[in-house]
Amino acid sequence: MVIENKNKSVLKPFLRWAGGKTRLVDFILGVVPQDLEKVTYWEPFLGAGSLFFALQPYRAVLADLNHDLIACFKAVREHPDLIANYLRRHARLTSKDYYYEIRTKYNRANDSIAKSVMFIYLNKTCFNGIWRVNEKGEFNVPYGYKEPPTLPSSKDLKAASVALKCADLKVGDFRQILEEVGTNDFVYLDPPYPPLNQTAYFTHYTQERFGISDHEALAEMAIRLSKKGCRVLVSNADTKFIRSLYNSFRVVQRKVTRWIRSDGKRYKAREILILNY
Ligand SMILES: C[S@@+](CC[C@H](N)C(=O)[O-])C[C@H]1O[C@@H](n2cnc3c(N)ncnc32)[C@H](O)[C@@H]1O
Repeated sequence: MVIENKNKSVLKPFLRWAGGKTRLVDFILGVVPQDLEKVTYWEPFLGAGSLFFALQPYRAVLADLNHDLIACFKAVREHPDLIANYLRRHARLTSKDYYYEIRTKYNRANDSIAKSVMFIYLNKTCFNGIWRVNEKGEFNVPYGYKEPPTLPSSKDLKAASVALKCADLKVGDFRQILEEVGTNDFVYLDPPYPPLNQTAYFTHYTQERFGISDHEALAEMAIRLSKKGCRVLVSNADTKFIRSLYNSFRVVQRKVTRWIRSDGKRYKAREILILNY
């Protein structure tokens, strides 16, 4: 389905997401092709979908391995008003105890609109908006001590719902999702970054971690898509390993270097965009 979204003010995501690109959106928009009207926009590592909401393309396929995340996006697309109502109730009752009560309910709940509402509430109230699950697949992030949480308003959710009308939402591994990309389509890849060290794995988004072989498989896939005629844009950390995977691509480096603290040490974290056009 193609829906023309004529009211294209830049939208912010309705979730917080570790590795989310909200702060880098201007940098990324600077290299996104201008002529996307006739092609499909693919984002198989959706997270909070920062670039999708900033761009609001005409037609999109959005996917992620995280089942609950995609269920939440579908619920927002279909029922923005209902979700806003439920969220207002969570906002009234929120506290540390309430957070843990909802976390337990959430881990026992089957798919439903109420579960997606809890997903948003936990995302906004937990420590740093991190998504982390234990071996049983249970969400186990502690309370974030941020009161009051900034829950998305009815207006935010309605705007997100309108933007999402043009999108197919899928759960799946990037290898399977990217098989369906059409010639000339535009693909934005924002995988989990390689860890700076072992404790940086505090953030794993799904039960499966994204390791070296996944980065290698992703680069192979990007090269295949490039040969097919697609335009491919990858976000990643600036490391020798990542650069070596994309020899035939162009690299744009972000000027600002961030310092990340982990394990009491400081690490230089520079972002790069890798592209084939
Ligand atoms: C860096 S985040 C994406 C952030 C997003 N661009 C944003 O701005 O919010 C990476 C995402 O990849 C997803 N993911 C991890 N492994 C995956 C896989 N094998 N296939 C598809 N998605 C995966 C995670 O669930 C996570 O949402």
